[in-house]
Amino acid sequence: MNDLSGLRLRDFPLPLKLTISLGLVVLGFGYLIALANLYLTYHLTDGQPGLTVSDLRRAFYGNRETTKLAAKIDGGSMAQFLPKPGDKEKILSWIQDGASREGYEAVVRPILAENCIRCHNPEGLQRFRPLTSYEEVMVVTQVDRGEPVSLWARVAHTHIQSIGLIFLVLGAVFCFTSVPEKWKTVIVVLPFAALLVDFGARYLARTVPAIVYLMLLSGASIGLLFAVMTLVPLYDMWIAKPSSPE
Ligand code: HEC
Repeated sequence: MNDLSGLRLRDFPLPLKLTISLGLVVLGFGYLIALANLYLTYHLTDGQPGLTVSDLRRAFYGNRETTKLAAKIDGGSMAQFLPKPGDKEKILSWIQDGASREGYEAVVRPILAENCIRCHNPEGLQRFRPLTSYEEVMVVTQVDRGEPVSLWARVAHTHIQSIGLIFLVLGAVFCFTSVPEKWKTVIVVLPFAALLVDFGARYLARTVPAIVYLMLLSGASIGLLFAVMTLVPLYDMWIAKPSSPE
């Protein structure tokens, strides 16, 4: 073996130990904020409180039984704005019949004008979702196909690069802990594998909804490895009693 293999974190000079420790603490703190962000982003996706598999399936695979407009007026939060009997059914059958421009002009536009436009216009309460033209209404009349590839690519490339870099650092530090060499060899490989599986699964979940379980499993493994690879070095540096020299 070479000189490096016997080197242990607790023998590092104090400034280096402090640098490494604070780095680990800050990375861990950032990870907790990332978890909070994950929760806040997805917990309302399925309309129910709490972050569940159903939120993830909705976010990545979509909800192919219905469209956003149908979901909102058929028992959803916008149903209250269609008091006249029959209006809801007219809009729903228009969507089912292919949402034609003629049907919009003849049937749907007057209903929306009477009940919805006061909020859904460029100056209204819901200015982000105007419903004043056929084109605007078409956007909420598409089947929800989940995460677009463009969004996947944007999230995947930044996360794979940044989390990859984090585990490069965590792995390098972990190599100097007192964990047996055999274990180290396995543990430093796992996060990279889990990271690739996670984003691979997120891509595939767009076609096969059950794959969100694989995504959850790999995401949880990443969290666990993150915890192990920050806490073990901290323990080694500040708490563990030095064992007799090998
Ligand atoms: C009093 C104002 C108001 C009226 C009237 C109103 N909406 Fe809304 N609408 C909102 C708000 C606020 C939201 C966002 C909160 C939500 O989704 O419940 C929303 C959300 C929506 C969404 C989802 C938009 C998105 O991109 O997520 C649709 C579709 C929608 N409304 C359709 C309608 C239809 C159709 C009507 C008429 C029957 C209507 N709304 C009447 C305020 C209004």
